[in-house]
Amino acid sequence: MTARMETFPNPAAMTEAALAYLTNAARESAAARGRFVLALSGGSTPLPLYEAMARQGVGAPWKDTLFFFGDERLVPVGDPRSNFGAISPILFTPAPLPVDNIRPMPVEITPSAVAAAAYEEEIRQALGTDPETIPRFDLILLGMGPDGHTASIFPGGPVVAVRDKLVADAPPPTTATPRVPRLTFTLPLINAARRVLFLITAKGKEQALTQALADTPDPAVPASLVRPQNGELVWMIDEAGK
Ligand code: 6PG
Repeated sequence: MTARMETFPNPAAMTEAALAYLTNAARESAAARGRFVLALSGGSTPLPLYEAMARQGVGAPWKDTLFFFGDERLVPVGDPRSNFGAISPILFTPAPLPVDNIRPMPVEITPSAVAAAAYEEEIRQALGTDPETIPRFDLILLGMGPDGHTASIFPGGPVVAVRDKLVADAPPPTTATPRVPRLTFTLPLINAARRVLFLITAKGKEQALTQALADTPDPAVPASLVRPQNGELVWMIDEAGK
């Protein structure tokens, strides 16, 4: 793993750097493998990045991008708590891509364990790897909550320990909102990625950040368990308001 941290004085500066990083990763991936396989994160921090991506339009590199989602709240897409529901009007409505490029989590499938297994299968099909191998995303975007959760891997929750799945269903968190069940990428899938980019607004998350960036990973801070074995880990941190 290679790791680095970059800090920014405001959200706009972080968005600009994140857009440059993503665009470069997309071009490199498309040149090497013919496409860019990306997982988006939920939450509010990356929304300006998604707006900036949409402003670039539907040409390269996004026409060669497969957009997966690293976690989702188990609510209908029209619910204000849905990650896909929040992202889609910002990213996909202004710059419409072929429907095959956009891979939302299947929240309509019940029970949720079956939905998680279906998304895992969709990832395997799209990335074309055998069942013994963990597929490699070109880039997984992540955020972190003040409790140290990332994607929907919550401290004290069952997904922290999951090793035999790529996507898991998770009960409602007790340390974060909204308190609804989730689907989430697991740590083995995240840590197989070629690149992982955290986008963080530091205000209110100072303690979790210190713990996440410490040398020793701590299961009480799930973000600290993100250490892509053969990939690049980048933390972009907006320090405004600290
Ligand atoms: C979710 C997330 C979650 C998010 C963090 C940070 O669906 O809840 O994907 O992991 O990234 O909670 O959220 P903010 O960017 O809103 O602080």
